Amino acid sequence: MANPIIEAKNLKKIFNSLNVFQDINLIIESGKLYSIHGKSGAGKSTLLHLLGILDTPDSGEVIVNGTSINHLSTKEIALLRGENLGFVFQSYHLNNKMTAIENVMLPLYINPNYQYEEMEERASDLLKEVGLVNKEKHFPNELSGGENQRVAIARALANNPECILADEPTGSLDEDNENNIFEIFKNIVESGRTVVVISHNEKIKNYSDACYILDNGVLKEE
Ligand SMILES: Nc1ncnc2c1ncn2[C@@H]1O[C@H](COP(=O)(O)OP(=O)(O)OP(=O)(O)O)[C@@H](O)[C@H]1O
Ligand SMILES: [Mg+2]
Repeated sequence: MANPIIEAKNLKKIFNSLNVFQDINLIIESGKLYSIHGKSGAGKSTLLHLLGILDTPDSGEVIVNGTSINHLSTKEIALLRGENLGFVFQSYHLNNKMTAIENVMLPLYINPNYQYEEMEERASDLLKEVGLVNKEKHFPNELSGGENQRVAIARALANNPECILADEPTGSLDEDNENNIFEIFKNIVESGRTVVVISHNEKIKNYSDACYILDNGVLKEE
């Protein structure tokens, strides 16, 4: 078997005195779509932030594309993330001082293959792909919740990352837009890359190679 794109070993996360989970193990293989379900407050976002190396566990290890983050500096972790992962945050985390197209262009600045014009073209194409036409120059406060959510998805796709981690990516979308995003994810997986989605939506299960439930600190495959 090729290296998994993400491997999580014995992850433990505690907030103050709240023990969110203490021994999570998960292997994310390339070319698959994983969905993670569970009740509100179960720790899904916490887990996805660890898998996306946006946060570090209290103990355990996350290995991305063969590299363990345990002995890396913050800068090295950011580079590893930028080269391999795209993250869609539950609350979008767009830069409010940047337009839609500028937000989508952001991840491309670390990519030496892109000149400025190509970055603009790529970001414009991605906005069209998520169904946003004529919204390029709008700032987040001039867009609806679902439109901002789609900008956040386009941004995560920008660098063609090996793995997309998406936290409730369709929570604010109508059915047509939701289906479009699921189809985009399906195409990503068919091209050999990987998607990990947190969702309260049962429909994503039809697209998933593996479904997990996080309950009471335990991650179980369904
Ligand atoms: N930075 C933090 N500091 C303290 N507690 C936190 C922090 N982040 C999360 N928690 C707590 O950890 C638990 C898990 O939160 P998390 O956001 O991972 O849940 P979730 O499964 O994503 O829920 P939802 O479906 O509502 O998004 C919650 O009880 C939350 O209050
Ligand atoms: Mg969450």
